[in-house]
Amino acid sequence: EDAERMARFDARIDAGEYIEPKDWMPAHYRKTLVRQISQHAHSEIVGMLPEGNWITRAPTLKRKAILLAKVQDEAGHGLYLYSAAETLGVSRDAMLDALHTGAAKYSSIFNYPTLSWADVGVIGWLVDGAAIMNQVPICRCSYAPYARAMIRVCREESFHQRQGFESLLTMMTDGTPAQRAMVQDAVDRWWWPSLMMFGPPDDQSPNSAQSMRWGIKRNSNDELRQKFVDAAVEQANVLGVALPDPALRWNAARGHHDFGAIDWSEFWRVVGGDGPCNRERLRARVQAWEDGAWVRDAALAYARRQDAAHEA
Ligand code: ACO
Repeated sequence: EDAERMARFDARIDAGEYIEPKDWMPAHYRKTLVRQISQHAHSEIVGMLPEGNWITRAPTLKRKAILLAKVQDEAGHGLYLYSAAETLGVSRDAMLDALHTGAAKYSSIFNYPTLSWADVGVIGWLVDGAAIMNQVPICRCSYAPYARAMIRVCREESFHQRQGFESLLTMMTDGTPAQRAMVQDAVDRWWWPSLMMFGPPDDQSPNSAQSMRWGIKRNSNDELRQKFVDAAVEQANVLGVALPDPALRWNAARGHHDFGAIDWSEFWRVVGGDGPCNRERLRARVQAWEDGAWVRDAALAYARRQDAAHEA
């Protein structure tokens, strides 16, 4: 009977149908989605930390208001994504426990430090730009609650990308030489880690084949990385910054830019917990969870009192 259900499920996927929480799905489909959506949610939440670091030091009221709104948006994205994962039968407590004990992954990119104000602009331009490139296809993910959540997430990410680019353009056109150098230094530090966000090369990506078969992923890691490089080259020209890759050049035969080798040993080191800020990030999340215990306790006590009053 399982083989028959499986064949029906595959046929639905092939027909481009969306899967809803109460529909039958293979156990591995459910497990893959819980893995990807929860990792994605954790990335949004941990991703608040590097930029949150600059809220009190934003150079103007306008930049501060934008940054506050953006960091709050990331919190919202995390919450929609935890809700989407919950529809698959996993509890939020279990997901958060996995994050806080270091068992869960989150995006490698958020384990790098934000050393100057220009990093905030570069995160908007490159990191959110890479996130959009990866996330727009997920608006068509076969699992409907994830796809629906991604529509709003992508709209907000576009605003994040634009504000980052605009902030850098202001520094590059109206800034002092020192400010322009600050932008270039931030680009030099964030470029390679941004390319790593798309995940390992296709031939070293254990989940890709099955996820693409099931319409969880619509494009491969390398395809999206290439699209991102092609778009970033044009944008770097407009900004007047150099991308730190001597091998980067247009390849007319391929119709794409060639680029240099990515240091995958650095990627796996960061994913494995040994990046520049992994420990600091995890400590900040655990601290926030512990500091919030009284709020959770108070909400539960209130709910219990309401229930008791209801029953009386
Ligand atoms: N950082 C940390 N871990 C990563 C990264 C990364 N940049 N890229 C891949 N990995 C992990 C995968 O999670 C997987 O680990 P697991 O099997 O233990 O779960 C392993 O490396 C092998 O990678 P793949 O087989 O390629 O994994 P997958 O098919 O899940 O593809 C990808 C990875 C592209 C990140 C996919 O999960 C995805 O599209 N996720 C949704 C988008 C997302 O999470 N974005 C977060 C950053 S953007 C933001 O928050 C602003």
